[in-house]
Amino acid sequence: MSSSDQIQSVLKEDRVFAPNPDFAAKAHVKSAAEREAMTKAAAEDPEKFWAEIAGELHWFEPWKKVLNWKAPFAEWFVGGKTNIAYNCIDRHCETSRRNKAAIIWEGEPGDSRVLTFADLQREVSRFSNVLKALGVEKGDRVGVYMPMIPELAITILACARIGATHSVVFGGFSSDALRDRMNDAEAKVVVTADGGYRRGGVVDLKVNVDTAVDECPTVKSVVVVQRTGQDVTMKAGRDVWWHEKMAEASDVCPAEPLDAEHPLFILYTSGTTGKPKGVVHTTGGYMVHTYATSRWVFDLKDEDTYFCTADIGWVTGHSYLVYGILANGATSVMYEGAPNYPKPDRLWQIIDKYGVSIFYTAPTAIRSFVKWGNEWPRKYRFDRLRLLGTVGEPINPEAWIWYNREIGHERCPIVDTWWQTETGGILVTPFPGATPTKPGSATLPIPGLDMEVVDKNGVKVGANKGGFLIIRKPWPGMMRTIYKDPERFKEQYWSQVEGAYFTGDGARQDEDGYFWIMGRIDDVVNVSGHRLGTMEVESALVSHNTVAEAAVVGRPDEITGQAIEAFVSLESGNNPSDELAEELRQHVGKEIGSFAKPAKIRFADALPKTRSGKIMRRLLRDIASGSETVGDTTTLEDLSVLAALRDDDE
Ligand code: WTA
Repeated sequence: MSSSDQIQSVLKEDRVFAPNPDFAAKAHVKSAAEREAMTKAAAEDPEKFWAEIAGELHWFEPWKKVLNWKAPFAEWFVGGKTNIAYNCIDRHCETSRRNKAAIIWEGEPGDSRVLTFADLQREVSRFSNVLKALGVEKGDRVGVYMPMIPELAITILACARIGATHSVVFGGFSSDALRDRMNDAEAKVVVTADGGYRRGGVVDLKVNVDTAVDECPTVKSVVVVQRTGQDVTMKAGRDVWWHEKMAEASDVCPAEPLDAEHPLFILYTSGTTGKPKGVVHTTGGYMVHTYATSRWVFDLKDEDTYFCTADIGWVTGHSYLVYGILANGATSVMYEGAPNYPKPDRLWQIIDKYGVSIFYTAPTAIRSFVKWGNEWPRKYRFDRLRLLGTVGEPINPEAWIWYNREIGHERCPIVDTWWQTETGGILVTPFPGATPTKPGSATLPIPGLDMEVVDKNGVKVGANKGGFLIIRKPWPGMMRTIYKDPERFKEQYWSQVEGAYFTGDGARQDEDGYFWIMGRIDDVVNVSGHRLGTMEVESALVSHNTVAEAAVVGRPDEITGQAIEAFVSLESGNNPSDELAEELRQHVGKEIGSFAKPAKIRFADALPKTRSGKIMRRLLRDIASGSETVGDTTTLEDLSVLAALRDDDE
């Protein structure tokens, strides 16, 4: 386990907000007592608890056993056959929801589309047939690199319908990042668009795909949605237009009964070392977990209009824009573009226009809203809004208070939800009608979750003591493995604390049992909710021909949560300059994506290292954030290195 056992908690916050009684009276979970009863039942018999929820969904064949646990490998609903696309679409098409809006989409230029559940059934079936015609079979991987357009949701649901495993790569990633992920996943087909709109400009997605796929031997076909209408090169024998293939395809394609453990998707996430990890999620458990949490946490009702601002390229978009929300038959609003295009009121305009009742976003976005000013939201009608949520990083209490006042009008509960790509769904969260909230705390674990804060020996620490956040028992939505690398899965998540899943986060539990997440304890930076391994950025820097060595750290940033600072030492014969710093920033942008560009590059003759040669990022973090080094420097190899770095700063 890295850094130390001395995580300190400095946050002091005593405000408590009781659930709104009107809200509670109508909520799915109506009181703290009701939540406690659920928690008790789930603790006594978790398998019975989850099986009852699973029974609310459609299964082609019932499971034989709820859980098979050979630590750290879990199988849920063993032997059961189901289909998540069926549960998100077809199930509702047999009810009065058939012609209800499933997806309300708003394009950045202002165009709009509404797809009912029946529309979705036709479109998803059609695209399932297109994939089949391209030779995609059950178990094959399909890469997805798309803007936030309805075709993105249709694509992943079509994969799920026929049992192809999708791997979505966020459209902000570079062609190199796409290539590496497609090669690791061994994708057969990549689905993309000519381009996407972003802040009034155009992102050349197809150009990136062309560069990437030239070096992806497994990719046989590329399907291209026409979104911007820009000129693109279509390679004969490989590239096909979405609209042409869809026009030829039948709109009938029954959902394939799939084993509960059939792999639904692979989503790449950063680790502490080396290459990105392909987090594997399977069908049945993930479906039950996202379905149940969507209902408890967002309190979804048939009359709700739910709006999640996450991109489907991240796990939040998978679980709480598409799967969990549609599994509940709710209406999901999807927005293509930037929150401040053409003006900083775009999201508020969308809330007003569609009568959004539930709004889920990230603390980094909230900090931007605060900076842009109160006049923007104050122009709009929020009278239908009844619930707010956040995810992605700790929310600082002042941002929470602003969100409550300016967006929630002190009427809407706020659910601060803690979870990870690896956990599949929300794990620590208030239930809006049941849980008193404290700004900055994600509050309590969901029923059935055995979570603790422990010291480096795995011993539970006392109230208000910082430690490592771990989970002792399996839960339905948990990742099953790292794609093609079960050993790394064991090593990365299940080896730090004997017999437990280690989240990588530090946390404390207060006297009421509330969890306060303190962020990553390892070397991962979280920029605007994009979680990046410092190693990846360092590797990108070192791949530049002038760079000898690089160390990357996060420093606190008011808007993006953390900002990246890079300490770089150059190969001899090269001299530091502003031009070179800019060139290195661009280089990282090309290698990973522009969101990963360091905010600042500091040139240094040498980097502080331990005697075993490990770069002491902790010290660099202190320098980057301008604080005095208080930590232990006894393992530092050469103290003068540190002094030189400091002098540089002045
Ligand atoms: C952080 C996003 C505090 C945490 C769903 C976690 C949070 C990482 C919260 C996962 C929250 C997420 N409060 N920290 N409510 N939600 N985090 O995989 O460090 O992109 O481990 O999943 O984000 O990021 P990921």
